[in-house]
Amino acid sequence: MKNNNPNQSQLGRKLKAGPTDGAAETRVPDSNLRLIPKSARSTFVPYDPLQVSIKPGENDLTRIAPGRSVAEGEVIEVSGRITDEYGKPIKQVLVEIWNANKWGRYTHIEDHTGYQLDPNFLGHGKTMTDDDGNYVFWTIYPGSYLARPDIGRWRPAHIHFSIRGGSVRLITQMYFKGDKNLETDPMFIVLAEAAPRSIGVEYETQTNGAKRGFKFDIVIGGANANYFEK
Ligand SMILES: [Fe+2]
Repeated sequence: MKNNNPNQSQLGRKLKAGPTDGAAETRVPDSNLRLIPKSARSTFVPYDPLQVSIKPGENDLTRIAPGRSVAEGEVIEVSGRITDEYGKPIKQVLVEIWNANKWGRYTHIEDHTGYQLDPNFLGHGKTMTDDDGNYVFWTIYPGSYLARPDIGRWRPAHIHFSIRGGSVRLITQMYFKGDKNLETDPMFIVLAEAAPRSIGVEYETQTNGAKRGFKFDIVIGGANANYFEK
């Protein structure tokens, strides 16, 4: 029977890709995205506190909930101050960190190392800087992990940092002095003169079970800026 319904007659039809204007490549970046220029970075603005909710304890990665056991490994404090190139505090920005557990394993579905997971290690945390640009976290001293099994290259212990203000997100890493894997780590070598600024400065503390703290100040912009990943 002939189908007179125009809608039904369209069912199952195959759409053909028509000719294009051949201009697709002009509408996408043709090279890697780069660090935003200094002039634009001066517009780095506080993250809208209404857009992010920080619950108490989210800066403590060593317990997944109040009353739960502390994660395995050495509890460390990580704190610092985030400023612009003139030393002006950058307040009310969202600071997030994530690091591997004692055994070098991330709490992340894409970590396929097979290293031991710690059910009591949160693995990532967040906080906001205060009005003087300060932040503080408690986490576990991260284990090293074999980043390149084919050539036996280990990553030095490190903590990933994300700093978000307005629509800008900057990513960097903090390292630990004396780690034997620093000198063979491409991500550390690329830091060049910014390398010393990427190493946490150890101090003594007695908070939340930590005995050692690592001060990691972050400068956004200027000649003394931290290195941010592209
Ligand atoms: Fe990592």
